[in-house]
Amino acid sequence: MIGRLNHVAIVVPDLAAAAARYSGPLGATVSAPQALPDHGVRVVFVELPNTKIELMEPLDDGSPVAGFLAKSPSGGMHHVCYEVDDIAAARDRLVASGARVLGDGTPKTGAHGKPVLFLHPKDFDGCLIEIEQV
Ligand code: CO
Repeated sequence: MIGRLNHVAIVVPDLAAAAARYSGPLGATVSAPQALPDHGVRVVFVELPNTKIELMEPLDDGSPVAGFLAKSPSGGMHHVCYEVDDIAAARDRLVASGARVLGDGTPKTGAHGKPVLFLHPKDFDGCLIEIEQV
């Protein structure tokens, strides 16, 4: 059911500094910063030949990733995003198999303007999974 790896997301304490590290020493193409108020984060995407890296910082103290930084002040890996063809069908299959979908199960609009859902990390080996309909 899951398809390509769309991106790996990393929480960073300072988005501008992190973006500069990727565009400078690592020599990657980095998108302009984008605020995602629905998700409480500001992000940039590092464009790689085979996937993307999403660098994210909290928009404010109430952000879901503010707690992540409180536990891991230097940042760290936050989630992986897999592509699916039909997010409603994917959700129904996951729920039927006993996996927990975060929130009320209604897809939100992700950074690429496409519907996304997040799956409980305890159901997937400690890894927060995002699925995105492409
Ligand atoms: Co993501």
